[in-house]
Formats: sequence, structure tokens, C-alpha cells
Amino acid sequence: MASKVKAKVRKIIIAIDGPAGAGKSTVAKLLAKRMKFLYIDTGAMYRALTLKAIRKGINFAQGRQLTGLAKKTRIDLENKSDGAIRVLLDGEDVSLDIRKPNISRFVSDTAKVPGVRKEMLTRQRELGSKASCVLDGRDIGTVVFPYADKKFFLDADFKERVRRRHKELKETVQGVSWEDVEKDLRNRDTIDSSRKCAPLKQAKDAIYIDTTEMTIEGTVKVLLENILGSSVDN
Ligand code: CDP
Repeated sequence: MASKVKAKVRKIIIAIDGPAGAGKSTVAKLLAKRMKFLYIDTGAMYRALTLKAIRKGINFAQGRQLTGLAKKTRIDLENKSDGAIRVLLDGEDVSLDIRKPNISRFVSDTAKVPGVRKEMLTRQRELGSKASCVLDGRDIGTVVFPYADKKFFLDADFKERVRRRHKELKETVQGVSWEDVEKDLRNRDTIDSSRKCAPLKQAKDAIYIDTTEMTIEGTVKVLLENILGSSVDN
């Protein structure tokens, strides 16, 4: 008689951390698609909460209010068949709104609140327990999944990160200047790396990759080869 006990398939976790503009989300999305894993954009969760806080007129210096808001906010991340992701805030599609400069301006203030992070940590671990996945963020390899199967830290020269983010934003936001982008990245780099709770930091066992002179495809290839332990075709 066939056993009714199904073997549990172990979930695989790939963590990608690094500063803004290092190519994390694009690379993570493509990697997840190649591996048929779920892609979890943890930054999108902090961005969605920031959008709600702005709409509600919450003062970003009030950590307790932000924590309270986080507890009663529903955030869903959907992976679409074309590889794109949809971010739902209390059921509303906010995928485009959360990328706007006014969200980037305040998101690090939301993300530095310990109560907010605690709430997001629980949700991110829950998401990661359901399927093999690729997660990108700032604290995935250090705090959210310290036992991830593979950890990468993606970085690039500051000027190159500004160039990439400026190019990306110019396509959707009118009149975005180089100086605005430079200011935003500098501000977020500072807050994200210096906060007390789960700062942006390379995990000791993460593989550091400087993407300054690398293409997206080239970076995905390096990650895949590291994960699979053999060379791969493009
Ligand atoms: O895409 P980009 O690199 O600009 O940032 P993001 O991944 O969308 O994250 C936006 C912000 O959320 C970051 O600047 C951090 O303040 C925060 N964040 C975080 O604190 N921890 C994470 N795991 C992910 C994002």
C-alpha cells in the first residue's frame, strides 16, 4: 500500500541585500523567474506602508503610530506570470505609486522604526516558509533569514547607482533631476546603514558582488553559477 505520508520538500531561500540602485530587485526578479521561485520584494512592503502613512497624515517622527498602522495594514505581493510583481495595499493596487519620489523620501523613516520592522519580519518569514524564494532587501541575510541557503550582497559605485536610478525614474516621473536622485540615495544610505534595528549590512557569509561594471544578465549569471555550483548559459 502506498504510503500516505508525503515527503516534505525543503524550501530554499536566496537572500539578496544591498543599497538602492545596486540592481537587487531587477536581478532578484530575473533569478526567481529562472529558478521558478517566488520573488519577495521586502522593500515594497515598507514602501506600501509609507504610502498609507502619508495618506493618513502620520508624522514620521511618531514611531508608535507607524507601528500601530503596520499592525492593521494588509500588504500582499503577487507574482505575475510575466515576472512582474503587483503590490496590494489593503487590496488596492499601488505597484506604481510606491515607486514615486515622495515615498522614497520617507520610506527609510518608516523602516527604521523597530515596531514596524518586527511586524514586517513576521510577515516576511511567513511568506518565506510557504515556497522556495528569492528575497531582496537590506536585512534578509542578517536578520530575516540568517540561515538562508545562499546570500548575496550587491553593491555598485555611488555615481553608478545614481545613474541607474535616475534613468529608471525619468521614464515615469516628469522633471526628476540628477541632484534629487543623488540626495535621495545619500539620505537613504545614511539612515538605512546607521539605524539601530537591522541596519543595512553585509552578512559575514554573504558573497559580495560589485555590479558597477556588470550587466543585469551578467549579474544573474554569476548568482546562478554560485547557487548551482556550475557554469550556466545565458
Ligand atoms: O529599490 P530600492 O533599493 O530603492 O529600495 P527598496 O528595496 O524599495 O527599499 C526601500 C526602503 O525600504 C529602503 O531604503 C529601506 O529603508 C527599507 N527596507 C528595509 O529597511 N529593509 C528591507 N528588507 C527592505 C527595504
